[in-house]
Amino acid sequence: MNSPPNELMSTLSEYLSLDPLSCYSLPPEAYTDLALYALELDAIFRKEWLCVGRAEYIPTRGDYYCIDILDESLLVVHGQDGVIRALSNICRHRFMPVVQGSGNTKRFVCPYHAWTYETDGSLYAAPFMKGSSVFDKSLCSLPSYRLETWCGFLFINLDDDAPPLLDKMQTADKYLVNYRLNEQTEIMHYQTEWAGNWKLSAENSMEYYHHVGLHKDTVGGQLPAKNTYLPAGPDDGSFTHERCRMDDAYIGGEDHPFNPMGKLDTFSDEDLYTGYMVYIFPAFTMAMRPNTNNWLSFSPAGISNTRVLGGYLVSGEVAREHPNIAEERRELILKVNEEDAKATTELAKVMMSSKAQRGPLSPFEGTLVEFYRYLARSLGLAEKTVDD
Ligand code: FES
Ligand SMILES: [Fe+2]
Repeated sequence: MNSPPNELMSTLSEYLSLDPLSCYSLPPEAYTDLALYALELDAIFRKEWLCVGRAEYIPTRGDYYCIDILDESLLVVHGQDGVIRALSNICRHRFMPVVQGSGNTKRFVCPYHAWTYETDGSLYAAPFMKGSSVFDKSLCSLPSYRLETWCGFLFINLDDDAPPLLDKMQTADKYLVNYRLNEQTEIMHYQTEWAGNWKLSAENSMEYYHHVGLHKDTVGGQLPAKNTYLPAGPDDGSFTHERCRMDDAYIGGEDHPFNPMGKLDTFSDEDLYTGYMVYIFPAFTMAMRPNTNNWLSFSPAGISNTRVLGGYLVSGEVAREHPNIAEERRELILKVNEEDAKATTELAKVMMSSKAQRGPLSPFEGTLVEFYRYLARSLGLAEKTVDD
């Protein structure tokens, strides 16, 4: 495999020591260089925990859904034994995807030659294999991937030796305790693909600065870019976060649609009147208000496309007390997502231009600097010293 250009790697390593207030954006090659992309796949996406959905998609034994991550074809299944697993969806006979879409089943029957698997991945039966000297049923199970759950989210890891998910989330848990994520439930779901390298989607999902332009007619009114600030921490670099104070015009009034809803006693005043955006590296983000949570998970679909999975969560009591909330919010949520998708599409179009150049970052984009530092660390780059 070729190595990424030295200059690009050197630029990345500079973020580790630069003051965020003197940082520029990534150079355009960071989004187009194939060697860097290959390195990101190996050092990040094949090593880290990636969100593939919610346990509530498969509440009953036998429920399943299929999802692709990188080049892996996954079958996420609530087994007849009650265990949720991520299995390889590739038949152990001659590679046919065992199942498509989602549903509920007692067993999976491959559509090609009818090999039949239990929901734990073990092979139950294979027709007309008697006489083969190499066929051993016990050696033909569907392989599984690491799968662990955090606050109702299902995460997989392609690295069998990765540390447990909950270790990774320990610090985030402390910052998120008021938000009671464990009690949230999904009322809207989206799955799509955005044009552009995955880092464009990532960057767009960790700052409120773009509310001044891209979302000025949607959420830019209630959460104006000018009210952005960067909370302290975390010290371990496991995530980055930003808050944005609501515009005064949107606070108070008996029935204002953006008043905090549901059970509010766990929230601080800061929580009640700010939007809170938490981006957990490498590719999982939540844009929260008290008792509502718009989450997204990204994975690369090639260097210049990004798979996007996401949903809108509310706490159980909001779901009960506001049964129409999905309908009420749907138009706004889809519009905001559309605006974000449009941005990454436009950015992707111009990244190869000979005149595309890095630009200075705003103080409101400190989260991007944290993201670039994460990239540099993950790609094995050391902090640049004065002599370098
Ligand atoms: S490929 Fe599945 S049974 Fe042949
Ligand atoms: Fe946005």
